[in-house]
Amino acid sequence: MTASAVPDDAAPGDVAIAPTAPPHLAAPDAEPTAPAARALPRVIAVANQKGGVGKTTTTVNLGACLAELGFRTLVVDLDPQGNASTGLGIENRGLATSMYHVIMHEVPLEDCIEPSSVKGLFVAPASLDLAGAEIELVPAFSRENRLRRAIAAVLDDYDFVLIDCPPSLGLLTVNGLNAAGEVLVPIQCEYYALEGLGQLLRNVDLVKRNLNPTLELSTILCVMYDARTKLSDQVVQEVREHFGDKVLRTVVPRSVRLSEAPSFGQPIITFDPTSRGAVAYREVAKEVSRGATRRTG
Ligand SMILES: Nc1ncnc2c1ncn2[C@@H]1O[C@H](COP(=O)(O)OP(=O)(O)OP(=O)(O)O)[C@@H](O)[C@H]1O
Ligand SMILES: [Mg+2]
Repeated sequence: MTASAVPDDAAPGDVAIAPTAPPHLAAPDAEPTAPAARALPRVIAVANQKGGVGKTTTTVNLGACLAELGFRTLVVDLDPQGNASTGLGIENRGLATSMYHVIMHEVPLEDCIEPSSVKGLFVAPASLDLAGAEIELVPAFSRENRLRRAIAAVLDDYDFVLIDCPPSLGLLTVNGLNAAGEVLVPIQCEYYALEGLGQLLRNVDLVKRNLNPTLELSTILCVMYDARTKLSDQVVQEVREHFGDKVLRTVVPRSVRLSEAPSFGQPIITFDPTSRGAVAYREVAKEVSRGATRRTG
């Protein structure tokens, strides 16, 4: 099996994952050093101010796959578009409590959390009103710390908290970065993929220096890899050169099934469990959680 010339919806298993992927997709060192296992609970902000690069798809599917591995996982939807909420089957119109109320009115996060259809996976939903928070927060007291405090109160209940950030570098994203221990950046295997990344890294650094000294850019994930184009390979190679072992060995392929799943309110592992996208995100979850002990009860 190779990752080259794989049509968009090839047979299940034809997924670009090292070491079965061709050498140019593997990390530069032949024997990659496993990243140090990080203590649970882990709070990971999925961020990239570019729109449509796979933040939500990664949050939803990584979350589902971590839950499948036995980790209690919370997806915090910090985007007024509410795509992570609807993508996990939560009807987010007319919610009595949502992330807006948590951020603006200091309603306990616990009050808005809902279970998803995947065992062990929970969602703190968002809807359009959260857009108002970006403006309403500007003069607010302790405006950068709202999410951090809210998550601290529920952290004992979870192994992983994944924060789906909006496509901006505004106060919502700052709240996401300030609440997290780590940042995961999805990078689309497209032209201009690295454009704007410098700005994101500077922002991560700003938050680190001023608000959250232990914040770490821990993980880069190449997504929407198209094996038919040379460009995808070039982007993966360039990203690996820049970020070394922060880049996961798994590369998520471009797959129509991944883009169809949200309209059914399901993550890919229940929508099409044997599809290439499901295989890829399972591998992503294994890489991200490597070394962590599963919760037993
Ligand atoms: N690997 C993939 N293969 C095919 N389509 C994908 C893949 N990943 C994401 N998509 C699709 O691309 C679009 C953008 O993805 P997604 O919503 O995850 O990006 P985003 O970064 O969260 O966007 P936004 O910045 O608007 O929040 C969606 O329609 C999604 O279904
Ligand atoms: Mg999104």
